[in-house]
Amino acid sequence: MAPLVSDSATATRNPAASAFAAIRSATGSGLPVAVSAQSTIGSTRCVCVRPGGYLGSMDHDESPVLDALAEYHDRGYADFAPPGHKQGLGADDAVRRVLGAEVFRSDVLATGGLDDRRSGKRVLERAQELMADAVGAQQAFFSTCGSSLSVKSAMMAVAAPGESMLIGRDAHKSVIAGLALTGIRPEWVRPRWDRGLHLAHPPAPEAYSEAFEQHPEAVGALVTSPSPYGTCSDLKSIAEVCHRHGKPLIVDEAWGAHLPFHEDLPTWAMDAGADVCVVSVHKMGAGFEQGSVFHLQGELIDPVRLKQSADLLSTTSPNVLLFAAMDGWRRQMVRSGQELLGSALELARTARGAIDELPALRVIEDELVAKEASHDLDRLQIMIDTLDAGISGYQASDWLRSERAINVGLSDHRRILAQLTFADDKARVDRLVTALGDLTRTSLPAPPSVVLPEPRDLELEQVMLPREAFFAAHETVPIEDSVGRVAAEQVTPYPPGIPAIVPGERISAGVTEYLRSGKAATMVIPDAADPDLKTIRVVADRDHG
Ligand SMILES: Cc1ncc(COP(=O)(O)O)c(C=O)c1O
Repeated sequence: MAPLVSDSATATRNPAASAFAAIRSATGSGLPVAVSAQSTIGSTRCVCVRPGGYLGSMDHDESPVLDALAEYHDRGYADFAPPGHKQGLGADDAVRRVLGAEVFRSDVLATGGLDDRRSGKRVLERAQELMADAVGAQQAFFSTCGSSLSVKSAMMAVAAPGESMLIGRDAHKSVIAGLALTGIRPEWVRPRWDRGLHLAHPPAPEAYSEAFEQHPEAVGALVTSPSPYGTCSDLKSIAEVCHRHGKPLIVDEAWGAHLPFHEDLPTWAMDAGADVCVVSVHKMGAGFEQGSVFHLQGELIDPVRLKQSADLLSTTSPNVLLFAAMDGWRRQMVRSGQELLGSALELARTARGAIDELPALRVIEDELVAKEASHDLDRLQIMIDTLDAGISGYQASDWLRSERAINVGLSDHRRILAQLTFADDKARVDRLVTALGDLTRTSLPAPPSVVLPEPRDLELEQVMLPREAFFAAHETVPIEDSVGRVAAEQVTPYPPGIPAIVPGERISAGVTEYLRSGKAATMVIPDAADPDLKTIRVVADRDHG
């Protein structure tokens, strides 16, 4: 491949990102490319496109946060500043025994501890630049408040109160929280409901195209991909639809932090042309819980507005442990992500085969990826159907935890989801397969049946903005009396965390039946004012007749 020469003016913020753009246009594809040669970028920078498909123009052996932490320890700082445990000196022995002394030692103030008062060493900035460089984004921003913060920040960077945004209705509850906070008007884009599996596949590009025809005033679009089930949208086509209209695309890619690092995984949102994408490093990467990154590229979103939106929502005391783990994971992925993820995919392939051979359990795969279903699938997410075993996913999940000390990621009325990452090995997978085999030989009572709604029962009419409904005067009514009333709260079976009812939606009989019968079958609904769902908050009649 001939050296790629990029215009140095466009390569100011991140030369690798502009090299990515050059390569994309040279290959005519948004897909990762596999080239091992070095190429000239501008006049000075060298870029290496590696087999995993990412570019790096920086020294990825560096880990600014870990290096700064090591230096902090070496210097033996005495802090007369938070955190008050003073590197664990004040921590109770019993606490330290469980958490480990190192956790406290590395829990230091980000500014005025890890870095100096003026952030003179640019520790965090350099770590973020390396992250962006590793995945071919223009800029990356770390969040210690999960993708829940990242996704809200992205929404605030795109739309102002009262403006419309096209949003797949299979969005996570944090997106609904973003609507309640901002006053953005959602124009819902329909997912593809699978009547056989009783599952929503991510919306098709055509659905976004039609939504833009109907709502040309929409200022941008948001799509969730991968879904919590690992199913993926055709992001490239959705990005093209958005860009044809000159509007930015936000991808909630909370489940896709690992995607840039292996070509056999579904397309990474930045490669597909998204303007901003949000990943939870704690889900499919090796970050601590709450570690999230949002990535930016292109000219459609103002980076300052994005950063300031995150600042409005964020903590002023970010946990350095989270930064350190994300920084170290980036280095690990650049060095050996290809190999680690390749092995994980192979392990997942073996696990899928072994589980599928168990009597009465079935790995759902082909039905997930089809013309009228999802565009792609992250095969590290193994969806297991428990229907033929005559038990619910809730029962399977509870049995695995209580009898075999195994936790699975997600369960519902008829399936469980086992999530593998590069951290798993054969012994762990064998343990899972053996436990599942034991489960199939165990007799459990027939589960209470869940009344599964028709798609139309889940497509509730949005009669008020989520923000207006959330802040309106409300009444608490018995759930059976709520049909026809406008919800003042969101009601979300968790996991997967996709609200069945959004504030401002008119409640249907079908959705109440589904939730009530789901509750009886041990569905968990943590965000409802009444988690038992005997009652629900609705907008008071005087606020909405
Ligand atoms: C699709 C999706 N988006 C966003 C989030 C929020 O991520 P976090 O837990 O990192 O705040 C989740 C969490 O499960 C999710 O599934």
